[in-house]
Amino acid sequence: MNIQHNISLKKYNTFGIDAKAKFFCEINSPEELKQVLKLKEYPKKFIISGGSNVLITKDLNSLVVHINIKGKKIVEENDNYVIVHIMAGENWHNIVLWAIENQYGGLENLSLIPGNTGTAPIQNIGAYGVELKDIFVSCEALDVATLEIRKFTKEDCKFGYRNSIFKNEGKGKYIITSVNLKLTKKKHQLNTSYGDIVAQLQKSNINAPTIKDVSNAVITIRKSKLPDPNELGNSGSFFKNPILNLLEFAAFSKENPNAPFYKMSENEFKVPAGWLIEQCGFKGKRFGDAGVHKKQALVLVNYGNATGQEILNLSLTIRKSAFQKFGIDITPEVNIIK
Ligand code: EPU
Repeated sequence: MNIQHNISLKKYNTFGIDAKAKFFCEINSPEELKQVLKLKEYPKKFIISGGSNVLITKDLNSLVVHINIKGKKIVEENDNYVIVHIMAGENWHNIVLWAIENQYGGLENLSLIPGNTGTAPIQNIGAYGVELKDIFVSCEALDVATLEIRKFTKEDCKFGYRNSIFKNEGKGKYIITSVNLKLTKKKHQLNTSYGDIVAQLQKSNINAPTIKDVSNAVITIRKSKLPDPNELGNSGSFFKNPILNLLEFAAFSKENPNAPFYKMSENEFKVPAGWLIEQCGFKGKRFGDAGVHKKQALVLVNYGNATGQEILNLSLTIRKSAFQKFGIDITPEVNIIK
């Protein structure tokens, strides 16, 4: 095991925060991961994978373990579907492209989401009307206490909007090593009802879209709204969209009749945090090297040398302002490491 000292984490987090790890190592298999977790001389360990949903606000005194476990294979197949077993360190978008190339449906709406496959279940990644849970079968995770691999079914994961067991009672207890997804070989269930997708397909004159057409539409939409982390540090949506109950929503919409919203159930109304933040005047604003993206107010960006603390401070200012204006608390989606 090659343990390195004082390593910059800049290239390991999509915010591009230049925090340091006192100790750092990369692991390439579940077996190596077990060995590292056994190392008693480094009592504090911090796991990082694609680094696309994390804001590091200080140098880390721990052993930072970078998950780089690669590989994928089809473990079940019939005329209608495949189940593919994907190791945690596989880049998510590469998996989406591989699926589309092989005519496997189900991942197209989740095109171009930064990060790795192993972290997708943690926040149940979702975009344009599809969530990971829609194609998820199971995952395997290393139990940090027993060092045994445990299997989690879809029910075990308790998926919700940007939520799962791994953000709640399982937080810090498991490290996901692989994910099994079920993808269609025919009769693909296309999900094209999201307004932006409808508009994009119309623009390209596509009436009977293929999975590739949907993926291309999503890629075009994302590129037009969301900054590429390779060009501008960011972690996608910084906040979750708040969900109001009927009473709260009635009061909110009376004051804000033009606000966009999405009815999730009779008693749940999702309000776009991006809209709230824009109304507070933050869209496109820059404070030093920390800023709010000019095309999507839900995305905080690092123009180069912002510290994690500066991004965090900006998020707190925004949160306070949204609460003062709307009485709604918008909570971070990103994991904040303090
Ligand atoms: N809006 C504004 N101003 C803004 C941004 C958005 O008014 O600056 C309004 C839009 O006009 C639209 C509504 O908010 O009416 C929704 O905007 P958008 O379609 O861009 O989606 P979102 O709710 O802001 C969510 C996800 C994204 C995902 C998109 C598409 C969350 C926290 N974010 O954003 O996920 O790509 O829907 O499905 O749920 C991510 O999690 O990192 C992410 C990018």
